Amino acid sequence: MPNLDKSTLNQIAYAAGILAKAQHTIALTGAGISVESGIPPFRGKGGLWEKIDPMKYAHIDAYLRNPAEVWEVLFLSMRDVLQNATPNDGHKGLYRLEALGALQTIVTQNIDGLHQLAGSKDVIEFHGSFATQRCMGCARQVPSNEVSVETLPPLCQCGGMLRPDVVMFGELIPMDHLQRSQRLASTCDAMLVVGTSATVEPAAHLPIIAKHSGAAIIEINPEPTPLTRDISDVTLLGTGGEMMNALASAVEQMR
Ligand code: APR
Repeated sequence: MPNLDKSTLNQIAYAAGILAKAQHTIALTGAGISVESGIPPFRGKGGLWEKIDPMKYAHIDAYLRNPAEVWEVLFLSMRDVLQNATPNDGHKGLYRLEALGALQTIVTQNIDGLHQLAGSKDVIEFHGSFATQRCMGCARQVPSNEVSVETLPPLCQCGGMLRPDVVMFGELIPMDHLQRSQRLASTCDAMLVVGTSATVEPAAHLPIIAKHSGAAIIEINPEPTPLTRDISDVTLLGTGGEMMNALASAVEQMR
């Protein structure tokens, strides 16, 4: 494993041991896992919310007030970045664990669909997906790549206004996603937490539910998070690509 120091290698071996023994492992992922695919995170250095006020442009009230402006300021650039993005070693590492039977489900806060593109089968899109738009009138769903953005906001054939199928601030998480994710968190015996600042509820609570239900928490992030001190059993301080690649290789050697 290229240029990883001894203590990181020991932590990777320890984390791999947990995953190799675990019967039921899930993963929670955030924007950080897609940074190496060219998609900026929301917070921290180079974060989208450093440039755009999320309460002004990513809140459902803002969309209802001025949908064309929300498209111009946020959704058009998001659409361009997501259209060209491909999975990186972080996504592929999770798929490798799934292929080994060492990972069962991914709960992602990301709307980019990159886990599925990497081959992962059971992915809960906790904050929805940008792959489809939904009509606010007739609720029809349309693939985003079939929606023309000549006129903004884009309209449905029924005349209703389309919106990306993502959960905006001020909106609830789809009940089935919330309940299934909380159930999995309370029954898993290991949880991987990759590339999230763990600051946005209710997703940020899933590792805490898992921890209090006896699961081992393995965190991957270049920076410490609110989970690092009291919740994570192992924190691999590095990028999702490098750490997931090393972790998947270590588990492959143990299986
Ligand atoms: N690999 C792994 N983690 C990384 C990398 C990387 N290459 N680069 C940055 N990170 C980490 C950052 O240190 C940070 O902790 O990823 C995290 C990204 O945090 P956020 O931008 O806050 O993203 P996320 O936690 O997914 O945000 C949650 O907030 O804005 C809403 O709906 C949006 O789903 C999003 C939610």
